[in-house]
Amino acid sequence: MTLILAIETSCDETAAAVVENGRRILSNVVGSQVEVHAAFGGVVPEVASRQHLLRAIPILEQAMGGARVAWQDLSAIAVTHGPGLAGSLLVGVNLAKGLALARSLPLLGINHLEGHIYANWLEPDFEPAFPLLCLLVSGAHSDLILMEEHGLYRLIGRTRDDAAGEAFDKAARILGLGYPGGPAIQEAATKGDPRRFPLPRAWLRGTDDFSFSGLKTALLRLAERLQASGQGLPVEDLAAAFQHAVVEVLVEKTLRAAERFPVSRIIIGGGVAANLLLRQTFQERSELPVFCARPALCTDNAAMIAAAADVRFAKGERSSLDLDVHPNLRLG
Ligand code: KG4
Ligand code: ZN
Repeated sequence: MTLILAIETSCDETAAAVVENGRRILSNVVGSQVEVHAAFGGVVPEVASRQHLLRAIPILEQAMGGARVAWQDLSAIAVTHGPGLAGSLLVGVNLAKGLALARSLPLLGINHLEGHIYANWLEPDFEPAFPLLCLLVSGAHSDLILMEEHGLYRLIGRTRDDAAGEAFDKAARILGLGYPGGPAIQEAATKGDPRRFPLPRAWLRGTDDFSFSGLKTALLRLAERLQASGQGLPVEDLAAAFQHAVVEVLVEKTLRAAERFPVSRIIIGGGVAANLLLRQTFQERSELPVFCARPALCTDNAAMIAAAADVRFAKGERSSLDLDVHPNLRLG
């Protein structure tokens, strides 16, 4: 049996978790800083790292207490070492290094994006079978990845401009819905008509890449026109139209890519994978099984980092105590 304690501080969630055998969550504590950053309309890096400093130890203690395990029961300590905000990553990495040294435990630096993929392993009904096609959609990424084996990734498509989550956040700002944008757009869209305002879709035919900046600009221009006409903003209809456009492109492009590779499953991950319309549209349109973790495991958390670490730990991988942060780390 392996028991991994993981720490995640790459952006604005301070998180710690204990996971057994890479699949069973014993504790998963996520301290969101959203109320601190909301006043600024987005994450302020300096504020985020200070908040991590204040919150990391209490959250770590909560995760250890909740899991009811002793330090000597742990197999290893895992920590996100990139990609993310440098100052935020530093807090988690230094805490993990200190713990590994003090408790004589192995240390593993984990790629945050790999964590989002392994969130799926935390669902009991998920049966991995390689190769897998993975759509990874977060605040900074819209990647289509062919996962050939544990730890073996081929990037087949990526965003050319705004990531899907970033597009949701910017659209929410245009509509005056605040931060974070994804959940706010989803909520407003439930009462809107997605067909009242047609918005463009960038198909980028012939590639598996995505682009959402044209859609964002089209929404901005439309909102400006509507406002200038003095009618006020039909926020719910605009949110529904925007969400519909993003989801359609993500689903259709993923399904088209899935036809060209010998995959038997599709998995989705990252904060935008929490979107209910995206999940539902995949289930309706895909002939292949589509797996996604429950929404709380799609957004940033440390259990997913422990799940990814478990596979690497089993292979004998270890990081040294001079583990550094890599704000631009890629997958692969
Ligand atoms: O993976 P994540 O928690 O952090 C990063 O690694 O970036 O993703 C955050 C992004 C944000 O842009 C947020 O607006 C978006 O995920 N998001 C959503 C939803 N929940 C979070 N987007 C659409 N619908 C949601 N329900
Ligand atoms: Zn993330």
